[in-house]
Amino acid sequence: MSMTQDELKQAVAKAAVDYVAAQAPAGSIIGVGTGSTANFFIDALAAIKGRIGATVASSEATKKRLEGHGIKVLDLNEVSSMPVYVDGADEITHQLAMLKGGGGALTREKIVAAVADKFVCVCDESKLVSTMGKFPLPVEVIPMARAYVAREIVKLGGQPKLREGFVTDNGNIILDVHGLQIADPADFETRLNAIVGVVTNGLFACRGADVLLLATPQGVRTLTPD
Ligand code: 5RP
Repeated sequence: MSMTQDELKQAVAKAAVDYVAAQAPAGSIIGVGTGSTANFFIDALAAIKGRIGATVASSEATKKRLEGHGIKVLDLNEVSSMPVYVDGADEITHQLAMLKGGGGALTREKIVAAVADKFVCVCDESKLVSTMGKFPLPVEVIPMARAYVAREIVKLGGQPKLREGFVTDNGNIILDVHGLQIADPADFETRLNAIVGVVTNGLFACRGADVLLLATPQGVRTLTPD
């Protein structure tokens, strides 16, 4: 039986809720990502909202959706520990390095993930790749640095394109970098972040995922880094 991409995302969202219920002590704070897969996770999380203490949201959109389900959302500054952060990815390798930020929430996602003990990535199998870069790499940039950062990215071999009409939750712009084949994701993440004016880039490789829940038509697989 073939499954649509939404059915795969729903299946993996349910598996993530089961993971949270099994791994996070009752009353824990759960970090919640952004995007269509994260949205299915939020909808499924509502079923166990009495078991979790509260959540921290990685975007205004996620905050709104969580609150719509009557799930408590805390400011990250009120939280000192979080067992699990659950989020999707645009691409992920077998080493569980990720390329994220298709929805433009990369900076807050990286900040919330930094506080969490475990990053649980939820994806359908179309996201698993051997080399990242086919999906344009989002880079959040302070607006006045746009042209300078774009020139520096060209020197690194990428073709930056301004995401037209888009402003991040932090009031910045996104450059989507095309034409990359990222051989060493942690090194490229570090080099991009060293450009003055870059807030964050969408590579999550220096700190990748700890667990990948991967939806396939045969069921949800649980992968750890190769
Ligand atoms: C948003 C993200 C998302 O996790 C990524 O874009 C995947 O989204 P989706 O689940 O809709 O495919 O990084 O900034």
